[in-house]
Amino acid sequence: MGNNTDIPVTVIGLGLMGQALAGTFLKAGHPVTVWNRTASKADPLLDAGARLAPTIGDALESGPLTIVCLTDYQAVREVLDTTEPDGTTLVNLTSGSSAQAREAARWAEGRGARYLDGAIMAVPPAIGTDEAVILHSGPRPDFEAHESALRTLGTVTYLGEDPGLASLYDVAGLAMMWGVLNAWLQGTALLGTAGVDAATYAPFARQIAAVVAGWLPGYAEQIDRGSYPAEVSALETDARAMAHLVEESEAAGVDAGLPKLFRAMADRAIAAGHGAEQYPVLIDEFRIPRIPR
Ligand SMILES: NC(=O)c1ccc[n+]([C@@H]2O[C@H](COP(=O)([O-])OP(=O)(O)OC[C@H]3O[C@@H](n4cnc5c(N)ncnc54)[C@H](OP(=O)(O)O)[C@@H]3O)[C@@H](O)[C@H]2O)c1
Repeated sequence: MGNNTDIPVTVIGLGLMGQALAGTFLKAGHPVTVWNRTASKADPLLDAGARLAPTIGDALESGPLTIVCLTDYQAVREVLDTTEPDGTTLVNLTSGSSAQAREAARWAEGRGARYLDGAIMAVPPAIGTDEAVILHSGPRPDFEAHESALRTLGTVTYLGEDPGLASLYDVAGLAMMWGVLNAWLQGTALLGTAGVDAATYAPFARQIAAVVAGWLPGYAEQIDRGSYPAEVSALETDARAMAHLVEESEAAGVDAGLPKLFRAMADRAIAAGHGAEQYPVLIDEFRIPRIPR
């Protein structure tokens, strides 16, 4: 698909992210209309060639593609509730839960509006670069109709028809991010007790994280098959190493809460007879209600 930069784009919400989105569309050559509750935030964009819509209704009538980026879905509802956005495709890049995204899609459908949800996994300065990961979910024809313009904002992925998927991937990514960061902080605190500074440990930690990341595709296959032969290591071997981590943390005066959580999960799975299987068998510790195995 060509990059058709004469397609008009409307941006609703000019916080830090909305300004970056509108500015990126402008730089790419799109005619841009903006609306924000606090109109003065539009000034730099107006100087750069954007048009300020006098009302939200006018904004929604300004073109075929309307990007919405507000604090949360409550704000989206407050801004859009009294409108009839049936002449544009709403692309909601506001962060929220999958339930909120599905509810917003139903709301739009009830008004005859086209609605695509989205999630931005990037900071405003990255918008317009490949580093900006932007996820979309909702009706495929609506994504395809605007794919070219949406790709202006970053590395764009369409995930599927369920409008909740972009939000779900977004929070799954957060789980990965905080999991890795907290594990790294645990190790950094431990090594700090022996006088090793964070910068010395960081390259080593990065190497370990990359090795572990390499295991994911094979482990994912085991999860999808529901079969966990111990090809590399048995869970009971991992559990013994977890005990070392707990003991070492406690002896060093470092918080052992996170390692104890790993350990408790492994112990439950072992008690249920899975000690000789491989680590991803722990997936059922994350599934609530736990599937009897
Ligand atoms: N900033 C980031 O690094 C980042 C990264 C990924 C995703 N996001 C997501 O992008 C969204 C926007 O973030 P942001 O950083 O741009 O936030 P922000 O700078 O705080 O801007 C919030 C925007 O929402 C508007 N707003 C809030 N409540 C409103 C209401 N009741 N009625 C009308 N307008 C309302 C604000 O209008 P006023 O200007 O009038 O207050 C402003 O335009 C959030 O969902 C955030 O999670 C942000």
